[in-house]
Amino acid sequence: MSKKTGISTRHLNSINNLSNREIETIFEIAQSYLDKLPDKLRSYRIGRSTDIASDFILASLFYEPSTRTRLSFESAMLRLGGDVITSADPATSSAAKGESLADAVRVIANYADLMVIRHPRDGAARLAAEYSPIPVINGGDGSHEHPTQTLCDLFTLKKKNKELRNLKIAISGDLRGSRTIHSFVYALARFGARIVPMPAPGMELPHHVYRRLREEFSCKFDSADGSIGALYHTPVEPHQPALFSGPDFELSFESSSSAMEKARKQKISAVYVTRFQKERWLQKQQEYPRIDAKFLKDPKYSRASVLHPLPRVGELDASVDSDSRAAYFEQAAYGVPVRMALISLLLGLHEGETLASFEGGFEKSSLVLYDQPLTTGLRCANPNCIVHEEKEAPYVRNKFHLLTHDKAAAGRLRCFYCESEMDAFVIANRKNKWYTTDTFALAGITNQNVRDFLFFADESDAIGSGFHTRKNFAAKHSRMAAGQS
Ligand code: NCD
Repeated sequence: MSKKTGISTRHLNSINNLSNREIETIFEIAQSYLDKLPDKLRSYRIGRSTDIASDFILASLFYEPSTRTRLSFESAMLRLGGDVITSADPATSSAAKGESLADAVRVIANYADLMVIRHPRDGAARLAAEYSPIPVINGGDGSHEHPTQTLCDLFTLKKKNKELRNLKIAISGDLRGSRTIHSFVYALARFGARIVPMPAPGMELPHHVYRRLREEFSCKFDSADGSIGALYHTPVEPHQPALFSGPDFELSFESSSSAMEKARKQKISAVYVTRFQKERWLQKQQEYPRIDAKFLKDPKYSRASVLHPLPRVGELDASVDSDSRAAYFEQAAYGVPVRMALISLLLGLHEGETLASFEGGFEKSSLVLYDQPLTTGLRCANPNCIVHEEKEAPYVRNKFHLLTHDKAAAGRLRCFYCESEMDAFVIANRKNKWYTTDTFALAGITNQNVRDFLFFADESDAIGSGFHTRKNFAAKHSRMAAGQS
């Protein structure tokens, strides 16, 4: 029987909540479960159970359909010897009576030791985490992220390739609507893999995801590589320790043209296929890339594993199933050991082992956080953000992280919940009653003075709230940037 060890309230909302080292730790533990609890016939399958989580209960709270994520989480908990309680049908839970997520989470936290949540709104898992005294795992929130799917995807890549750095991964389909893609590209970028986007028309990666790849994960866009382009990772940064084995990845876009040329000619290591996310789009699917035996005949895919988070609905032909490159069923099987590892780490069941401690995370906590009531000023512009869910109105706030990567560049706001970004807004100073549309002014806002500021969607909102325009701000800023007083 296991003892209740230190349960952390660490949440997993985004893949960026985990450091690279932590991801490696999860994989080490997942592999140890595969080794210790094997299925005799299939090496990718957990075949037996342990009892290390016998004192614990996992709650799965699913407001959207799921097969793999919910069942593999539940299987993982049962394989660890724990118990599971499930609310998988919003129609038969109190959600149908109009209960908010914030209330549901506070209730369920008394019935379980950790919970996994899936919700149609972007940022729902972050909201749940705000109200939960037990760990909340994001099992997919709208089109925002699906971090545990990415853990399964990376684990599959690791099993197939030994190292992730220097891989070239093509991502195909609905890159805008697929939450699996968003978590996946951040992880690939952080580990130095090259990404070749192959979007369906109009379904490119969201603008803010591209920007984040560029600004936070040092990616470069190479329009010369194929018709769509590729993102290349520049030299490893101190916060991006080596992942897996292999030589350090050092590819500089500007300085090493021979390395670039080599990378352009490099074969694709994996094709990651996604379905059209019909539940996230108003319009019908038009043209959509289809991966089949003919597509995979191209020599550049000769060594490419084929991955898919599943379910597939026509974009990945069944004829590929018998191809040795097909890895998607194995990828789905890894959901069990990978989630066993995550659960046991979050429950503190690996204390005393020689594995790295499960602390830290990748995200920078240094960003200034603006936090105002929902009734005041600017709201997140993403209509699918959880802040626009009527039921949650009493429980959410207008919260934004301030992005001022470069003091000489215009600032942006990142929604605390859904992480979408806004670059046009009005900044108002409560003390002096001025406002400006110049987002350079964000650079002057700190954790100490952030309460002196309000953000508005436009000038008329600011004027309506009693603010008046601040003259000469832009001129003063350019003088400051030029080093003059
Ligand atoms: C994905 C999801 O829910 O985002 N499914 C999964 O969890 N394996 C992919 C999808 O639904 O297309």
